[in-house]
Amino acid sequence: MPFAPFDWIDDEARRRADAGLVRTLRPRPAETELLDLASNDYLGLTRHPEVTAAAARAACRWGAGATGSRLVTGSTTLHAELERELAEFCGFEAALVLSSGYAANLAALTALSGRGSLIVSDAGNHASIVDGCRLSRAETAVVPHTDPEAVRKTLRAHDGRALAVTDSVFSVDGDAAPLAALAEVCRAEGAALLVDDAHGLGVLGEGGRGALAAAGLAGGEGVVGTLTLSKALGSQGGAVLGPARVIDHLVNTARTFIFDTGLAPAAAGAALGSLRLLRREPERAGRARAVATALYEQLTAAGLVAVRPDAAVVSVRAPSADSAVRWAADCRTAGMAVGCFRPPSVPDGISRLRLTARADLTDAQIATAVAIVRRTAPDA
Ligand SMILES: Cc1ncc(COP(=O)(O)O)c(C=O)c1O
Repeated sequence: MPFAPFDWIDDEARRRADAGLVRTLRPRPAETELLDLASNDYLGLTRHPEVTAAAARAACRWGAGATGSRLVTGSTTLHAELERELAEFCGFEAALVLSSGYAANLAALTALSGRGSLIVSDAGNHASIVDGCRLSRAETAVVPHTDPEAVRKTLRAHDGRALAVTDSVFSVDGDAAPLAALAEVCRAEGAALLVDDAHGLGVLGEGGRGALAAAGLAGGEGVVGTLTLSKALGSQGGAVLGPARVIDHLVNTARTFIFDTGLAPAAAGAALGSLRLLRREPERAGRARAVATALYEQLTAAGLVAVRPDAAVVSVRAPSADSAVRWAADCRTAGMAVGCFRPPSVPDGISRLRLTARADLTDAQIATAVAIVRRTAPDA
């Protein structure tokens, strides 16, 4: 028999092609004329001169890389500054930054659960939460989307340590979790609450302080938050926020912190630059929300089926995976980049276009975006 250990990959690729689910990497030029409604740069900060200058300064001072795990090569004052300012901005006692939001979710979930404990996870949670649950060795119960009563029942049936986990704003449909109700359930059942605020930071709450601050839950005894620095803050990296003893516990036990190179100095510098800029210009958060609402209202007025956005993500239903791909490609041909979500990246099998609002979009650009989506719609 010939040695062909990867032939199964070709079979899988064929099946993917037959189902219209092939993913391809497209080149992205440094400069483009495309109207960008695909990126998560919610506040328009990733190319802001102050933010890129902060990244460059940090790289020049501290080097291009963090040189190792912070437990091995040491922790810079830059990381400490970012952690202090992030915690203070979001209303928590302490913070720990990691190399990505993905790593932050893995860290929080694995360090705060473990064998014999229970994680109750919303069916719409992000892939990094799903993977964190898998890695945790805890029993994981997936409950229906945004259903605090299902969380209550599941927690009540468990004896022992437990944690409920949810996205604050779900990345596929842009809808928000019922955080106040979830916190009440967790308090009553003696469970911790972990909230991934990847899409809330910079957009929700006063001046963009995030969904937990908006819900009055930031800094709560049983509440832990995770963040990405790669969306509203326009940088790269992630963070866990919570009581100081929880953060100390993560430093000692979270494998994606201990065995991962620390956050790159340029990324830390850029995130700090964005955070300081957002403090000075808090109106950016409200503008991102207003742009999302305007997109939604104009899209639905044009007869498209969209989900009312709770933050900056606007989701528009497509009839099928194939048509969603074509629709996104037609938008691109017409001069606008949009996201395209389809199986297996959606929990319910429904394909969508995903438009992201940005604080720096003008009213004219919003109108153009809506006109392009409408003109290229599959049944138009
Ligand atoms: C809800 C949510 N959590 C976590 C992440 C992961 O963050 P990062 O890209 O920084 O790894 C993302 C997206 O990327 C996300 O949408």
